[in-house]
Amino acid sequence: MAQRVRVGLVGAGFAATFHLESLRRVYGVEADVVGVTSLRKSSRESFARRHGLKAFPSLDAMLDAVDMLDIVSPPYAHEEGILKAVAAGKSVLCEKPLTGFFGPPGAGKSWRGDQAPKKPMLRETLRRMERLAKVVRDAGVFFGYAENYVYAPSVQKEREIVEKSGAQILRMIGEESHNGSASNAYGIWRLAGGGSLMGKGCHPLSGMLYMKQVEGRARLGRPIRPAAVSARTHQLTRLPDYQDAGFIRTDYHDIEDYGIMHVVFEDGTVCDTLTSEVVLGGLFDYLEVFANNHRTRCHISPAGLMDTYNPKNAQFKDIYLLEKTSTKEGWTPAAADEHFTVGYIAEMQDFLTCAASGQQPQAGLELALDTIAVIYAAYLSDEKKGAEVPVRLL
Ligand SMILES: NC(=O)c1ccc[n+]([C@@H]2O[C@H](COP(=O)([O-])OP(=O)(O)OC[C@H]3O[C@@H](n4cnc5c(N)ncnc54)[C@H](O)[C@@H]3O)[C@@H](O)[C@H]2O)c1
Repeated sequence: MAQRVRVGLVGAGFAATFHLESLRRVYGVEADVVGVTSLRKSSRESFARRHGLKAFPSLDAMLDAVDMLDIVSPPYAHEEGILKAVAAGKSVLCEKPLTGFFGPPGAGKSWRGDQAPKKPMLRETLRRMERLAKVVRDAGVFFGYAENYVYAPSVQKEREIVEKSGAQILRMIGEESHNGSASNAYGIWRLAGGGSLMGKGCHPLSGMLYMKQVEGRARLGRPIRPAAVSARTHQLTRLPDYQDAGFIRTDYHDIEDYGIMHVVFEDGTVCDTLTSEVVLGGLFDYLEVFANNHRTRCHISPAGLMDTYNPKNAQFKDIYLLEKTSTKEGWTPAAADEHFTVGYIAEMQDFLTCAASGQQPQAGLELALDTIAVIYAAYLSDEKKGAEVPVRLL
């Protein structure tokens, strides 16, 4: 691929904005974001106007104008976007989570993912992923899995420590939590493929799966992959006695708002993922590594670059401090350059550089597939009240 890569965005929402802003900070390769498409005419046209792009009425109409599709639509639409991009020989970036189960054919608004049996869900998701993996691999196109935890500077520093010190990672713990997503698709299994495990837990989980890949490649010449998972989920904001104080989103259709996944790797070491929609105080995202020769705490957000004290909300009205804080009064661990500290910029840099040079990115198809294989095995484990379920890898 040439040093100029024409990119088309599929989706014009929250993620499309930070993808676009981060693509515009890539150096060495010209990331030329030429257009955007999305479901609603008004939103894609206003997004295009705001950012100086061309709005395309459909993904098909945009294909000829781009070298790379950047899929930032809700999870239910990822697979279709990838298949179309690959069929046209285009490079692909896909936001997390890769794909999942979005209900049986024709599933309507009354379908409830939380009450549907999980074994067929897991089977169908593995089948979809098998097909997706084959299509991408056969086409030989570039595929980047947009998992920013992998690219957070703190996680990349830990990669260097693990690689150069020959560390053996014994256990890890990671979390992504806040007080509820703003996306309309979030909270509806049919569109999102699950709840907190899928929407948030996928981040620290992928970060930890990545660290064991890194360790395995450095020590053994091959990645160390997940073997089994035990999990529980809960719907805390729907407990009969839940007291709604108005600070936490509660209008979910059929998903969990708390989850925990305990993963055992093939070498017997472990990692634990915590995730929820019930955490106040802004994003609460971290990943901690306990190795045989060191210990590292990676702050994803807040990243600890600055704290600012504001005695009066109104003063900071137009100043962005940290995602999901419900107030700007008092002390705030502000995000000085969030796109940098959470890994968005490094992610786009890696993808564009690799797509242009034919190299493999840090976060690729295998990581995307392993993450979903773990999460859907976790939903089956949760149905069995936490019993261990083997992870079937592709
Ligand atoms: N890495 C991160 O930190 C992060 C943060 C937020 C969201 N995400 C991921 O980004 C993706 C989008 O999330 P969001 O928060 O931007 O959602 P959003 O609801 O803000 O925006 C979704 C956009 O996709 C469009 N869309 C919906 N269905 C479509 C379809 N079939 N074809 C084309 N466009 C379609 C919508 O019109 C909208 O413009 C999700 O996969 C989500 O998990 C990642």
